[in-house]
Amino acid sequence: MRPGQGRIKVIGIGVACLDYLLLVPRLEEVARGCALRDFRMQGGGMAATAMVTVARLGGEAQLWTALGQDRHGDLIIEELQNEGVDTSQVARLPGLRSPFNFILVDGATGERVFLHPDVDWGRGNVTPGASPALALVDEADALLVDGHWNGWAVPALQHARRAGIPTCGDLNRIAGNENLLPLIDYLIVPRHVAEEVAGEAGVQALESLAVFGAKLVAVTLGSEGVIYLCDRKVYHLPAFSVKVVDTTGAGDVFHGAFTYAIARGWPPHRAMAFSSAVAALKCTQLGGRTGIPTLAQAEEFLESRTA
Ligand SMILES: Nc1ncnc2c1ncn2[C@@H]1O[C@H](COP(=O)(O)OP(=O)(O)OP(=O)(O)O)[C@@H](O)[C@H]1O
Ligand SMILES: [Mg+2]
Repeated sequence: MRPGQGRIKVIGIGVACLDYLLLVPRLEEVARGCALRDFRMQGGGMAATAMVTVARLGGEAQLWTALGQDRHGDLIIEELQNEGVDTSQVARLPGLRSPFNFILVDGATGERVFLHPDVDWGRGNVTPGASPALALVDEADALLVDGHWNGWAVPALQHARRAGIPTCGDLNRIAGNENLLPLIDYLIVPRHVAEEVAGEAGVQALESLAVFGAKLVAVTLGSEGVIYLCDRKVYHLPAFSVKVVDTTGAGDVFHGAFTYAIARGWPPHRAMAFSSAVAALKCTQLGGRTGIPTLAQAEEFLESRTA
């Protein structure tokens, strides 16, 4: 925390979208047609939901992203602002269609299937136009990037590195993000990225990811928890057992909580346990954001499970 400041501040750079969540009895039944158990329209996206997590936990969160000048974009911004996320750095680009997904959630397992337009939003080195306001990075206690809008992310990460500000990364692919990787201090990726790197999601994947230079690398394994490599040792943290409704956004929330913890200067093992707890609580409700707890709720849950 910066001297004299009460709240930690985190910047997230990446994607924001709108999710149409459809809770169905079983995914196998969808092709035959079935009644929905529940429906929700809610903002999503890796960096965006991570920043909502930071805000719920009591931190100051700022999102850098690009949206279209459309109704979806308005809804995405409105919800972020209602959550207390600073959207002053969100670009609204003419001709861009704001990202959206339809998500089918299995009522029995909480596992989900994404249906989305065939558009690669913000991939590669694209920049939404104007140069990023790098002076804002100096105000942050930690930075999170998700592999979208890298034309902003790379200079921001370089700036953070020079200033000694910790950086976290959530990537859903390695290819195309090579310029980001050496600038990430805490690299946490989902199972399919581990498989992209090493053909498996175990120790070999952690070692392959560590080559990029992060001080901690991790692979999240959904209901099987997370494995991570820190100080040359491998750890496995099982997921907390909860009544799962929807796992959408579990990784986004995990990253938001982890970045919050790092911004607070918590050691890696504490940050991991805290993030697992926050992500597990998220899974108990429909939508990527509905179940994100406050700091007090997360701490109470952790205490009840570790006592
Ligand atoms: N069923 C579950 N029960 C408890 N915790 C879970 C469950 N699923 C996920 N989690 C927690 O959330 C973390 C991240 O989940 P996961 O590996 O599914 O992320 P992801 O694939 O990036 O998801 P998304 O892209 O939807 O955010 C896990 O490591 C675990 O701590
Ligand atoms: Mg993810």
